[in-house]
Amino acid sequence: MERLVDPNELERHDPALRPRSLDEFVGQPRIVENLRVYMRAALGRGEPLDHVLLAGPPGLGKTSLANIIAEELGVPYRTASGPSIERGGDLAAILTNLEDREVLFIDEIHRLNRAVEEVLYPAMEDFELDVVIGQGPGAQSVKLPVSRFTLVGATTRSGMLTAPLRARFGIHATFDFYNATELALILARSADRLGVPLTREGCTELARRARGTPRIANRLLRRVRDFAEIEGTGTIDADIANHALDRLEVDASGLDKMDRRILSTIVHKFSGGPVGLDTLAAAIGESRDTIEDTYEPYLIQQGYLQRTPRGRVVTRRGAELIGAYLGDDSPDDPDDPQGSLL
Ligand SMILES: Nc1ncnc2c1ncn2[C@@H]1O[C@H](COP(=O)(O)OP(=O)(O)OP(=O)(O)O)[C@@H](O)[C@H]1O
Ligand SMILES: [Mg+2]
Repeated sequence: MERLVDPNELERHDPALRPRSLDEFVGQPRIVENLRVYMRAALGRGEPLDHVLLAGPPGLGKTSLANIIAEELGVPYRTASGPSIERGGDLAAILTNLEDREVLFIDEIHRLNRAVEEVLYPAMEDFELDVVIGQGPGAQSVKLPVSRFTLVGATTRSGMLTAPLRARFGIHATFDFYNATELALILARSADRLGVPLTREGCTELARRARGTPRIANRLLRRVRDFAEIEGTGTIDADIANHALDRLEVDASGLDKMDRRILSTIVHKFSGGPVGLDTLAAAIGESRDTIEDTYEPYLIQQGYLQRTPRGRVVTRRGAELIGAYLGDDSPDDPDDPQGSLL
């Protein structure tokens, strides 16, 4: 099913809209301000920046920030992704080719396999590789130096990282969803770059309905621009934004069909929950991982859904959103600490 608000899908046009420097990077103030300090300190000492772990739901700017880190440090930048590094030897080949202080970005780092992780540990810790030469009783272990480098790892599932790997990152940054003001700023800049006239009210409307996610904001902007050009005057104002978002089936709170389907399935088929993730996945025909990585975090953050030890539960607020009523004993506290699991 095509999903307009799917934050996972890569966009052809994204490079033009990607922030290029920390100054252009909107939001995540705590992450950005701390990184400024760490980067200045590392630069001052002529050392590589400590390894950085970027965690958070898709589309919030992890890849963009990794890129910016290398850019701001003025060092080479190389990328790889967890599942693409199949054997320890693949990683060893990457590591031995790094330049001094280079940034190595590994996306989906929670999907590295065990053997590859073992190669990574001594490299991260002591900038060396343990290489075994020969076989059987004559085999010898030698240490091979690698350049001092910075590993930037990104993950949508920091909970799936092994403890030894997590412990080797000196800097941990967890991304939050963006607020409407931040999204409005991102949208205004994107509209500017795309050359689309966007009124303040149109911008507010899009920001409000972008699911807290810059990638979705930019995608909505492009789609709404199409409606503005074909069915409007070319300018994106509140009216055309509302019209277009309705046509795209994005509701007033930014939820799309699949979000509402998750809530209504739990409410109508499982009496509001708790329902286990696998059962839910089967009932709506989506993979467990996609529900957990992509849909759930925002529903939880907004207080529509809760994650409990016995399964997923729709809150009263979530039920109201889809026009259902769950009775008085349903959970209704949107500030429940469960909401900040990611
Ligand atoms: N802080 C930001 N300021 C401005 N634009 C942003 C920001 N963060 C993200 N974007 C926009 O959103 C798009 C998606 O960001 P990015 O690819 O960095 O997300 P991600 O967290 O790596 O997602 P994934 O987990 O799916 O890889 C970027 O191309 C950019 O257009
Ligand atoms: Mg990414």
